[in-house]
Parts: sequence; C-alpha cells; structure tokens
Amino acid sequence: MIQKVDPAKGLKGVITDLPADKSIAHRAAMFAALAEGESVIYNYPDSADPQSTIACLEGLGCRIERHPDHIKIFSKGRNGLKVTQKQLDCGNSGTTMRLLSGIVAGAGLEVSLTGDASLSARPMNRVLDPLRMMGASCESSGEGRAPIRFKAHDGLKAIDYTLPVASAQVKSCVLLAGLFAGGETTVTETMPSRDHTERMLGLPVERKADGRIVISSSRSVDVKPARFRVPGDISGAAFWLVAGSLVGNAVITLNNTGLNPTRSAVTGILKRMGASITLENMQSESEPTADITVRQARLKATSLRPEEIPNAIDEIPVLAVAMCFAGGVSEIRNAGELRAKETDRIRATVSLLRSAGAEVKEFEDGFEITGNNEFRPKSTVYDTWHDHRIAMAASVMALMADAPSEILEAECVKVSYPAFFDHLDKLCVNGES
Ligand code: S3P
Repeated sequence: MIQKVDPAKGLKGVITDLPADKSIAHRAAMFAALAEGESVIYNYPDSADPQSTIACLEGLGCRIERHPDHIKIFSKGRNGLKVTQKQLDCGNSGTTMRLLSGIVAGAGLEVSLTGDASLSARPMNRVLDPLRMMGASCESSGEGRAPIRFKAHDGLKAIDYTLPVASAQVKSCVLLAGLFAGGETTVTETMPSRDHTERMLGLPVERKADGRIVISSSRSVDVKPARFRVPGDISGAAFWLVAGSLVGNAVITLNNTGLNPTRSAVTGILKRMGASITLENMQSESEPTADITVRQARLKATSLRPEEIPNAIDEIPVLAVAMCFAGGVSEIRNAGELRAKETDRIRATVSLLRSAGAEVKEFEDGFEITGNNEFRPKSTVYDTWHDHRIAMAASVMALMADAPSEILEAECVKVSYPAFFDHLDKLCVNGES
C-alpha cells in the first residue's frame, strides 16, 4: 500500500488509544504461559507482533480467549507446556523469537521457531550462545539465523552471563531459561536495557557500585497468574512527540503512555532539544504511566550519550527526523545495534533523511545530522524497507514538506501501530494533513 501524506497545517487533539506497549504485552503473555491457571491481560495490542506471540503460546498448549478489551490465557504452568504445533511462527517479531527461545529451551521442547524474511535475516547467536552454555540443544540455519530447531535435553544448568550487547531481548531470554535451570542464573549488564522482565517477574536486581546491574533467576521464582493492564507504547507515542514539536501550533495529548525509566529517554532527549513536553496524571502500577502533552517548539541540536542509546533504541529513526529541524549539528554514535533491527536502521534512516534533502553523514555506528530550524523537506517518495518505524518516521518528515509525499509499503505500520494513519487523520486540523 502506498500512503499519501499531506503537509500538516496543524496537529491538535488527544490520542486516548495509543497502541499498547508491545514489549510489555509480549512479556505479560509469556509470563501468563509460565503461570499455572488463568491470567487476564487488558488492553492487549492488536498489532502483528504481540499477536504472533499469543499464536505461538497456543502452539505450546496454552488456551487463549480473545475478547474486545482483554485476553485470557489459561496455562498448565511452566512444567505443563507441551508442543501442539511443530513450528511456531514468530512473524516479524524479534522479541517473540528471542524470549520464546529461552522458554522453549528451558522447557526442553522439540519445536522450530520460524519468522518472516526480515526476522530470518537477524542474528540469533546472541541468544543461542548462552542457551548452549546452559546445556540447550538447538540448531540454527546458516550463520545463527532462523529457523531455529530446539531439541530435548537433560536439563539446563545455571550460568553467570555478562551481556556482550546491551539487549533486553538477550537478557530476558537467559533469565527465562534460568527459570527452568538448576541453580541461580545471573545476567550482568554494563549498560541498562529495558527492565520489563525483571520488573514484571519481580526478579532480584543488584546495582553494583561500578554501575553494573546483576539480575538473577532460578527455578524457585514463583510465576503467578496475573491480571495486568498493558500501558500505551512510548515508542508509538514518540512519533507524535516529534510531530507535535515540529508542526506549527501543534498541541497533542497522549493518554496513558508508559514511562518506564529504562524506556523513556526519548522525552528527556527531546526536552534537551527544547521540546515542550509536560506530564499529567502520573500513575505508578507495575509500570509507570502519564498523560503527555507536547506543543510545538523551536529545537536545537543535541548528541546522544552512550547510555541513552539502548534506552531510546527504537526511537532513534524519529529522533533523527527531529534533528533535521534542530539548529546545529546532532550526533548519534555507539548505535551499531540499529543495523540488526527489522532492517538496517542506520542505512534506512540515512536514506530517509537524504530523500528529504537533509544533510547527514553516515558512520558504521550511527550518523551526524546538520539541522536547521528553517528546514523544509522535499515532497518525495519514501522507501520503508517494510520497517514499521521507518514508515512512521518518514510520515512525520512528510508532514513538514510543502507538497504531498508518498510512503511505500505503508501497511507495515501494523507491526506495532495499526491505527497510525487513522490517528494522523484525526490529529490533522480540519481533518486535513
Ligand atoms: C525489545 C528490546 C529491544 C528493542 C525491541 C524490543 C524488548 O531490542 O529494540 O524493539 O522488548 O526486549 P534489543 O534487546 O535487541 O536491543
């Protein structure tokens, strides 16, 4: 599908139904599968990735009831999982494949995890290496690519693992496998990554004086059935935080947005750039949330600190769009992980910015953008490489052009934000963008 995006005359309104956070939703569903009994998850997203997760859990013997505002997951618990489908299709979802690898390996199930072309090109040795150290039996295709075939084994042993990359997916995979292993498994991170797994499972977390974080898991961790509400996705909100900062006279409120401190660096980075972002109605259940209001502001350049990279990793394409309109030189380095996402997001972001006519230098681990408050992107046709976040970042760029632009393969937004273009229509003043 080719989506036309018109220049925005204004953006105003309240988004009351941001897509639910997929990182949290995947975990809520998987942890329900590990618990014996009935769990209820409210506001489970209809986006493709979390739907892949629940379809996979059905293939592991869980019963799932889908209702309009919640799902119910019935499970026999972590020792009652059994394979009812030989292949579990993780679709486009790296989180599904990597976290499920920890569960499947832990439970010693004979099953293959498959994915679409993008997921089958992504590196899986980062989870298979530690799982093999624990005693799992798994084979990948080619150089650590999906499909991954798991075989039965004689039981996993605990390991102490220091993450070689700042990755919540790898961290979570090892901790989940640790729930099935004899002894205590620890994962050490030198750079904090999103902490939903340890937070939601209540795992012990030790913060060392030198900044390292050590998280533990073991068989004795009791995973109980839960009633859980998934908050709005800060990664989806980020597109409106940038659009609202750029478009003339914009005022946008995003209700019930997740603001986990290991996920919300995007708000601090935009504020440092001069954005007007205010929080109201802050709540703190298992995951903190607030209503966020953004108003148009004049932006200035900034550079990201190394520890901000894992925290804002999914928001970097749209932050790069913001940087084109920020006076001065902005730099994003130490972000080589972006090349291992749904597509090579360094190449894709640089290409998006160049199509718009922005000044950008590409590095192996990031880019440098020379921004300008008067920048006017060209009206153009944006390639998206079928990557949802690139499609949405390109749409935000297109709002600032003088004439309409086109977004190729725009249906890919359904991976994380199926209602994105409906929300854009709703926010456009007078129904026009
Ligand atoms: C995720 C972790 C991040 C992020 C991805 C979701 C998660 O990936 O990019 O969209 O839910 O754990 P990495 O752990 O590979 O950095």
